[in-house]
Amino acid sequence: LPDPRRRLWDGADVKRTLPERDAHSHKGSHGKGLIIGGSPLMPGSVAMTARASLRSGAGLIAVSTDPEAIPAISPYVQEATFVEGRDGGQVPDLEGYDGIAFGMGFGRDSKKENVVERLIEEKETPLLVDADGLYLLKGFLPALEKREAPTVLTPHPGEFAHLSGLSIKEILNSPFSHSKNFAEEHGVYLVLKGPSTIITSPDGEQRVDISGNAGLAKGGSGDVLSGILLSLMMQTEDVWDALSNGCFLHGTTADLLVQDGHSKVDLLASDVIEGLSRTFRTFS
Ligand code: APR
Ligand code: MG
Repeated sequence: LPDPRRRLWDGADVKRTLPERDAHSHKGSHGKGLIIGGSPLMPGSVAMTARASLRSGAGLIAVSTDPEAIPAISPYVQEATFVEGRDGGQVPDLEGYDGIAFGMGFGRDSKKENVVERLIEEKETPLLVDADGLYLLKGFLPALEKREAPTVLTPHPGEFAHLSGLSIKEILNSPFSHSKNFAEEHGVYLVLKGPSTIITSPDGEQRVDISGNAGLAKGGSGDVLSGILLSLMMQTEDVWDALSNGCFLHGTTADLLVQDGHSKVDLLASDVIEGLSRTFRTFS
């Protein structure tokens, strides 16, 4: 029997739950987000996360990155601002944001773990952790229970294996039960990415997103997803729906692009960002 606690999230669900953009809104109404990540050799990651956030409706996006990476990021996402303060192990001022995304292209140097500690302490701000951030987070999982705002982790199976101590094989054999155990144990939303994506809430509810195609199997797709999720999380009280909608919009954009214009071979993560316009027009 289908488990009623595992539900396929589809286009009708998105149309029903995606918030409308209020005619009287201003940029403050749509969320001010901070993205912490990137490095001189990986500037594209945060650039795509920031651009995807703005293309998904975020009001304002600030980026905290290595100063050397800024010239590579800024021309791609002119609407973003930059914040200082990470040098010498320092973290930027974390106050005043509606959501923070952390980890893409950040590197895994354990000297940077102080950023993780500060992020966990910023307990009233919704936090999404992806990619290298998940590696740095591993030693701090027990501290996550102190957080009051939602914590969202977006691993692919390899990252989930590192976080959980399970093997990739074990995860792929029972992705639902391992996701559920982990999300409940640590009080987090878990987005386990793959050809199908399983979204689990801290109380163990699960949704499945089956959108997307092998055109997304290319570096950068995950960075784009993180940007979409950050943006949608900031625009509603309902993080659970925001995550489900974000996964659907990301995959469906790739599906629309390969139906018309692109192929699964040439599709780039940055094409998905520019393709969001069609998907938002269809589903909102
Ligand atoms: N079908 C549908 N969706 C897919 C498919 C597929 N065949 N392949 C990938 N996707 C989707 C996933 O569901 C997810 O949303 O594309 C996204 C891929 O995200 P990641 O696995 O995080 O890939 P990527 O963006 O390339 O991130 C690579 O992560 O492991 C780190 O250090 C690594 O920097 C690298 C980064
Ligand atoms: Mg990734």
